[in-house]
Amino acid sequence: MERLQKIIANYGYCSRRKAEQLILDGKVTVNGTLVNELGTKVNSNDIIEIEGKMLNKDTDKEYYLLNKPRGVISSIKDEKNRKTVVDLIDTDKRIYPIGRLDYDTTGLILLTNDGTLTNLLTHPSHKVPKGYLAKLNGILDKQAIDALKEGPVVEGRRTQIIDFKIKKKDLTKNATYVLITIVEGRNHIVKKLFKTLGYDVDKLTRVSYDFLGLGNLKSGEYRPLTIKEVKKLYNK
Ligand code: URA
Repeated sequence: MERLQKIIANYGYCSRRKAEQLILDGKVTVNGTLVNELGTKVNSNDIIEIEGKMLNKDTDKEYYLLNKPRGVISSIKDEKNRKTVVDLIDTDKRIYPIGRLDYDTTGLILLTNDGTLTNLLTHPSHKVPKGYLAKLNGILDKQAIDALKEGPVVEGRRTQIIDFKIKKKDLTKNATYVLITIVEGRNHIVKKLFKTLGYDVDKLTRVSYDFLGLGNLKSGEYRPLTIKEVKKLYNK
């Protein structure tokens, strides 16, 4: 349940203050009943009308943020009939993932049926920072750290590394956990870039996509994006 003026603003209809004024002016109904006082709370199933027009229920666009589990394919269908990210979302819309995560990579992936946003976010000129937590099979040495600062060359092209941080060096397990933020969309790019430095990525999780993080979502869980988040992605 959210305050009526907040829902109206979240739909992008107008500012919260303007929404308050519309309510006070007696222009808003909820499920057919006039609401002209502030403080009413509504949920997403309630039908809100402003000056007789239904609020934004005409949109057929959907946007989800999923915490992808391991062993799930980032596509709509798999010829080997393996589970896909789309199978995990309860919708009758024809949604698909924006970009890909490998079968064994976990973490944040967006799904939508909005082609315009997909094109915008996946276009190479549109540099969306993506954060990954990588578990490497070894202790990252100085040479590798220097190479990361430079941006390693992968298949003839320098990788643009926005930031990286060593989160943990586990000497007993001979592993390093690195948080790395890149803007690239090349397939298997994180695994490839560490390979050029002499390391295998044993585990990989995407922890952020632009300003979006995983929050409290457990593996396999998802949530719809808010209108505000969708607008922010559009305004990049
Ligand atoms: N880089 C990889 O190597 N794998 C992914 O799934 C995503 C980025």
